[in-house]
Amino acid sequence: MIEVDRLGRTFKVRGTVTHAVQDLSFGIEAGEFVGCLGPNGAGKSTTIKMLTGILAPTSGRLRVAGLDPSRRRTALAREIGVVFGQRTTLWWDLPLKDSFELVRLLYKVDRGVFRRRLDELCALLDIGDFLTTPVRQLSLGQRMQGDITAALLHDPPILILDEPTIGLDVVSKAGVRDFLRRLNAENGTTILLTTHDLGDIERLCRRVMLIDHGRLAFDGTVAGLRAIVPGEDSIEEVVTHLYLSSRRSPRTPPPRPAQDPPSVTA
Ligand SMILES: Nc1ncnc2c1ncn2[C@@H]1O[C@H](COP(=O)(O)OP(=O)(O)O)[C@@H](O)[C@H]1O
Ligand SMILES: [Mg+2]
Repeated sequence: MIEVDRLGRTFKVRGTVTHAVQDLSFGIEAGEFVGCLGPNGAGKSTTIKMLTGILAPTSGRLRVAGLDPSRRRTALAREIGVVFGQRTTLWWDLPLKDSFELVRLLYKVDRGVFRRRLDELCALLDIGDFLTTPVRQLSLGQRMQGDITAALLHDPPILILDEPTIGLDVVSKAGVRDFLRRLNAENGTTILLTTHDLGDIERLCRRVMLIDHGRLAFDGTVAGLRAIVPGEDSIEEVVTHLYLSSRRSPRTPPPRPAQDPPSVTA
């Protein structure tokens, strides 16, 4: 479903070059639920922006649902749903249901199909009570439920979320998690979830990738991640240990010669 091969992206701002993503390789199969961790500035959002076609890579190759994202954005839009926790894709002054209608028109979803889909999503995400409320009056949790619904109205096989649980209270968070778990298990939707919430990772993801300094530092199971630091069982402690040791090491120089994707480099 997703193939990433030696992907790189640099930014040049007033003469300063940042290697946001370097030599990143991984694959995600249909039906997987993959979590993505990494300290602030690690390159997670840049990776997601390349996967969704918002940014073009500066090196490497990637395919999402067989498409080159930055060259085939329109075709790709039918295959993926995208949620950015830090900003909404909904129309601020419109009632939630009007935002959904605009999404329907944008994606040219048939009215009957849309109705059925919206009913399903309303039941699963519990948004029926605030469909007529303008988006700006929604709580963060309600808005996030609205954003997730909007991303799924055209029933894409792939859902990509960048920090969807950021700022949510425990109940809203549980609702979002429960929904994502069912979407993956019952609908078979392939999910890539970036989060700082280790509870999201432990409760939802069979596989976790850790991105650090723009590179893949770990790719495996949650149990495998725990095993990196001997004698440490709490994933929170393991991740803290990894982030702190990464902070002590300087940012790595530009890409080395190509090599096989690392499994564990910590
Ligand atoms: N548009 C941009 N222009 C310049 N630098 C950027 C831009 N976007 C991201 N970066 C830099 O790339 C690095 C990775 O950022 P990002 O992908 O947002 O990290 P993460 O999502 O893991 O916190 C950071 O050093 C960030 O400052
Ligand atoms: Mg980010």
